[in-house]
Amino acid sequence: MSVANLRFLITGGARGLGRGLTAWLVQRGHDAYILDADAGELKHTLGTHLPSLKPAAGSAKLGRFEGAECDISNAEQVGEAVRKAAQWHRGGLLDVLVNNAGRANPYWADGRTFEQIDVQEWRTYIDTNLSGAFYVSKAAVPFLKASARGEEEPRGAIVHTSSIRAKQSEPNQEGYASAKAGLLGMTHSMASSLADAQYRIRVNAVLPGWFPTDQESSAGGAWDDGLTKEDHEQHWAGRVGKMEDYAQAVFFMATNGFVTGQEIVVDGGMTRKMVYVE
Ligand SMILES: NC(=O)c1ccc[n+]([C@@H]2O[C@H](COP(=O)([O-])OP(=O)(O)OC[C@H]3O[C@@H](n4cnc5c(N)ncnc54)[C@H](O)[C@@H]3O)[C@@H](O)[C@H]2O)c1
Repeated sequence: MSVANLRFLITGGARGLGRGLTAWLVQRGHDAYILDADAGELKHTLGTHLPSLKPAAGSAKLGRFEGAECDISNAEQVGEAVRKAAQWHRGGLLDVLVNNAGRANPYWADGRTFEQIDVQEWRTYIDTNLSGAFYVSKAAVPFLKASARGEEEPRGAIVHTSSIRAKQSEPNQEGYASAKAGLLGMTHSMASSLADAQYRIRVNAVLPGWFPTDQESSAGGAWDDGLTKEDHEQHWAGRVGKMEDYAQAVFFMATNGFVTGQEIVVDGGMTRKMVYVE
């Protein structure tokens, strides 16, 4: 199975984990189309950041990249944007969709508590972090499905970016945790629906732990700016997450032809760690 020069659609690719993933893929010769609601970061990523990259060792040249502004919580915008993305790609088709975009701060805005939040704030998490992934998936399936791609390998794949907060909590993150847990239900449900021979699309989820992302933006900075020794050492891995940790997990889920309906936790061991007071 060849996994060279795959055609990716990545939401939230203008900054953070999505930008890190896009760069990692493009440096390895894959083509990436990104959708993002932040016009300023999108312009910087497409016009300045990605063109400045060098191919990774063993790769002859950078993959192609393009993108468009799109709010994934708006189903109409999504339909049009995904169509354009597929048209831009070789053969008018997609190999992999990564539903990465999201409202990334897990806590209710302005330090509000469960009792203080209103329905509208709840909706912003569900609309973007859960419904957004559903809208983009629905729009992308016609360009990923086996009946459109013939016998082309690898088969189409979808990767949802969930979070370890789908499985464990601090106070005042109900919207975020519910949307991210919802993505896990959507993962096995879509994997089942899209297993049919006309689709043969594998659907998996990546659950990141703590990944600093401010450096992946027009403002720049170092990966570990502002982090303490304790921040790193509380992880069994001895450090917080790096972009390649995320990218490798997404790529594995996207390209291993026998993995579907599954979840992979990338958190340096934090969700397996027992915490007790002596
Ligand atoms: N960074 C972490 O530690 C961490 C941990 C677990 C899960 N995640 C998840 O990873 C994903 C990326 O997070 P990040 O930390 O890189 O965040 P980030 O804020 O750095 O980047 C998120 C990107 O998504 C875009 N986006 C947000 N809402 C959008 C919308 N409605 N339509 C289109 N684009 C939109 C933003 O403009 C931004 O470019 C999110 O789904 C987040 O929940 C992150």
